[in-house]
Amino acid sequence: MAAFSYSLSVSPCNISFRYGFGVSLLLWCVVGMASAQLSGQNFYNTTCPNALSIIRSAVNTAIQNEARMGASLLRLHFHDCFVQGCDASVLLDDTANFTGEKTAAPNLNSLRGFDVVDTIKSQLESSCPGVVSCADLLAVAARDSVVILGGPSWTVQLGRRDSTTASLALANTDIPAPTLNLSGLLTSFSNKGLNAQELVALSGAHTIGLARCTTFRARIYNETNINATFAASLRSNCPASGGDNNTSPLDATSPTTFDNAYYLNLQGLRGLLHSDQQLFNNGSTDSQVNTYGSNQGTFFTDFANAIIKMGALSPLTGTSGRIRTNCRRIN
Ligand code: HEM
Ligand SMILES: *[C@@H]1O[C@H](CO)[C@@H](O)[C@H](O)[C@H]1NC(C)=O
Ligand SMILES: *[C@@H]1O[C@H](CO)[C@@H](O)[C@H](O)[C@H]1NC(C)=O
Ligand SMILES: *[C@@H]1O[C@H](CO)[C@@H](O)[C@H](O)[C@H]1NC(C)=O
Ligand SMILES: *[C@@H]1O[C@H](CO)[C@@H](O)[C@H](O)[C@H]1NC(C)=O
Ligand SMILES: *[C@@H]1O[C@H](CO)[C@@H](O)[C@H](O)[C@H]1NC(C)=O
Ligand SMILES: *[C@@H]1O[C@H](CO)[C@@H](O)[C@H](O)[C@H]1NC(C)=O
Ligand SMILES: *[C@@H]1O[C@H](CO)[C@@H](O)[C@H](O)[C@H]1NC(C)=O
Repeated sequence: MAAFSYSLSVSPCNISFRYGFGVSLLLWCVVGMASAQLSGQNFYNTTCPNALSIIRSAVNTAIQNEARMGASLLRLHFHDCFVQGCDASVLLDDTANFTGEKTAAPNLNSLRGFDVVDTIKSQLESSCPGVVSCADLLAVAARDSVVILGGPSWTVQLGRRDSTTASLALANTDIPAPTLNLSGLLTSFSNKGLNAQELVALSGAHTIGLARCTTFRARIYNETNINATFAASLRSNCPASGGDNNTSPLDATSPTTFDNAYYLNLQGLRGLLHSDQQLFNNGSTDSQVNTYGSNQGTFFTDFANAIIKMGALSPLTGTSGRIRTNCRRIN
């Protein structure tokens, strides 16, 4: 856990702030971070008309096989976008002369779904070689996963291209750690142009999927803002030492349904991660948690809008980057 950390973003926008180039540049940066130049949902209409149906059908197969895969695919899109933008950098394998992001603390022994991504990509390549980017694949697969598990739908903006680089260092600094307090979480998201409401909405992704014992051990043994019954029930599968890889659901109520139970859990002090419970700990975000706890529709609307914004983080478009034929390697 000591390897988890966060730091200030090193985006060009923050550098401009420091050097004080003025208000117009500042505005340009804010707008630029929020709305990149992605195209609409018809981007592959003529070049790969079946792209979206190929992805949806393969995601559906994967989820029927293992419901958790929907959670794993959603998380891949998040860990992609928070590290140098949504450019599929998260998918690159390490080689003798290339270091990717897979061994970063938030990713190692944790991210999953790479085989499903490979399957989808090979189907896309069979149908329309060299057309659909791995970054768009992740964005569409995340949306389809949420829909299949009962959550909201949204129109995925397309036209992302794939990076020729990755950053182990940025994966370690820019992906928020579960040890963060509310102020650390707010900073981590604000470094990506995402506000407090978007932090609370996007954290609702933890209504699906599992976490390893090592990520919540300190909470269930040592924290006081936790439901005692809940903590006791988790300890058997997460001993004080050992069992680091044992998993428990992030939302014990309905771990394979995308609903607002995550927020009801927080109200009952049943957040699994330290970072989860920080959103409802007598602080400034409690009211947002209450809103989502009593109104699933508001959560769904806000989640969809926030993930569209997250999905537009510094994409490579036009002639920048590549369309990888194998998501694990640079062509
Ligand atoms: C707010 C800050 C966040 C923190 C600190 C955080 C941290 C974590 C941690 C520690 C795990 C468990 C990893 C493991 O056991 O190896 C996890 C799982 C997960 N996270 Fe987050 N996360 C955050 C935000 C998000 C966001 C924004 C999304 C997506 C929009 C997301 C989606 C998921 C999903 C779906 C899982 C379960 C994955 C699976 O079962 O394979 N998380 N997260
Ligand atoms: C293409 O784009 C149009 C709207 O521009 C849309 O109605 C249609 O469903 C899209 N897909 C295909 C395969 O034509
Ligand atoms: C890395 O090694 C591979 C062969 O393993 C080679 O094809 C590639 O050009 C090398 N890349 C760089 C940047 O040296
Ligand atoms: C956890 O699983 C990973 C493989 O996913 C393995 O390398 C590691 O040794 C395991 N750790 C423990 C403590 O069992
Ligand atoms: C949050 O965490 C940071 C870094 O660990 C610490 O400096 C700060 O005092 C904490 N804030 C609160 C309100 O606990
Ligand atoms: C709980 O806190 C104590 C005292 O700080 C520490 O020694 C112990 O390692 C912690 N236990 C866990 C599981 O984090
Ligand atoms: C603890 O969780 C149980 C359900 O598991 C709930 O009935 C109870 O109200 C919760 N306690 C607190 C203090 O929220
Ligand atoms: C908030 O404050 C109240 C009153 O001091 C306390 O009972 C409660 O445990 C605190 N924590 C949370 C998460 O509500």
